[in-house]
Amino acid sequence: MTVHGHKIDAGLPPILRPVIAELLARRGSLLRDWVARHGSPLNLVWPDALRENLDALRAALTEHHIAHAIFYGAKVNKSPGLMRAALDAGAGLDISSLYELRDARRLGAEGARIVATGPAKTPAFHQQLLDCQALISVDAPEELEDLIAALPADGGPQPILLRLQPRDQKRSRFGMPAEAVIHCLARLASENRLRFDGLHFHLSGYRWETRLAALNEAADLIAEARQMGFSPRMIDIGGGLPIQYVDEAKYQAHLAAQTPEDYRTGAVPDSFYPYGGALSAADWLSELLQAKMSKGTSVANYLEHERLILAMEPGRALADQAAISVFRILRVKALGPDAHVIFLEGSSFSACETWFASEFLIDPILVPATRAAVQSAPVRAYLAGHSCLDEDVISNRWLTFPTAPKAGDLLVYANTAGYQMDLLENEFHRHPMPARFCVTQDAEGRPNLVPDTIGEL
Ligand SMILES: Cc1ncc(COP(=O)(O)O)c(C=O)c1O
Repeated sequence: MTVHGHKIDAGLPPILRPVIAELLARRGSLLRDWVARHGSPLNLVWPDALRENLDALRAALTEHHIAHAIFYGAKVNKSPGLMRAALDAGAGLDISSLYELRDARRLGAEGARIVATGPAKTPAFHQQLLDCQALISVDAPEELEDLIAALPADGGPQPILLRLQPRDQKRSRFGMPAEAVIHCLARLASENRLRFDGLHFHLSGYRWETRLAALNEAADLIAEARQMGFSPRMIDIGGGLPIQYVDEAKYQAHLAAQTPEDYRTGAVPDSFYPYGGALSAADWLSELLQAKMSKGTSVANYLEHERLILAMEPGRALADQAAISVFRILRVKALGPDAHVIFLEGSSFSACETWFASEFLIDPILVPATRAAVQSAPVRAYLAGHSCLDEDVISNRWLTFPTAPKAGDLLVYANTAGYQMDLLENEFHRHPMPARFCVTQDAEGRPNLVPDTIGEL
């Protein structure tokens, strides 16, 4: 099918949890009411999705008899509701700042349920981590020295991990190469206020195969540490477990068919998140656990034989289906006979993939203001917000709407909890920060909003 000579692709409808599909399909007036009261964009969070995602990962781990520790990567979203859901479901929290730590503590997390990652920990952050004896992933020999300097004379033993920079991530600023890990171990041999609990890595990209390669490197270092007299008990493989946002076949067809003309910029972005990957997070984990390490045993058997806990810090994957972002359409402006820009109340700081020279490759869902959508010719448009910068748009991709959107309709981006919702949100043009609520159900089963703040949860 074509619109004014432009092809319309098959589309990339997002996979939706039934509760969200039902809200979008049947409760448009409730959504509009919420947006009228709380503004646009409105971020709606379903914390119970996190528990379901956690259960799926745990099922894969227990099937392989793996001792494990799952820490929710709290950086993925600013919602305290999601942090609380992780704690209530028995998971820990992966935090990377003093402020995430404070929220974790205010939500009741003991130090034993916290791992602190990231290379740029401030002295105040170190101090509070030491105060609650949270597990600290040490990023570099320099950080180890800072930490030692901060230890009280009679303190400890303070648990730490050493963060490995796997060989194929040599240009990364995160972690340290194997030689530096050995250097740190030698330093730890004379420092009994610190307890070496094991190794940590977190890799860019979403392939389990790269984690297998890093696990092989970690296994060599675990053996070396044991020879040096340490008793490591954990390997933490970081995050990067995938989300399936759209159907795999549709995604592959879309990638194969898209052309530069499909983008306002006249260029297809160089890279995309694998929005239509073949594996769920749980299947990804199972593939990794069954994979053979270089010594011939499976990862699962290696971990069991070495009595190692498999720790991980999924952020995005635990937030799968946990939020949507609802934008109100402000205006639909014709740019010519076959092109429009749809202005949304909000900005690309909320749906922010264009800031990474990429694109959130799922289709937004139109929720019309009136129940019976007025039939019209299809409309081809890109999305922009209130920003004054010409290049700053919400989608560079030309989207085709079978029915013309109009002012007052809602456009909903689904599955935004993982970095797509509030990573870059700010008060540009002094617009207030978008509101965020947890969606619960009242006694009659109707959706209900609860402010997503620590005080209200
Ligand atoms: C150290 C560390 N762990 C975990 C994560 C979470 O990654 P993801 O959201 O891809 O699971 C990140 C993300 O940057 C990270 O830096």
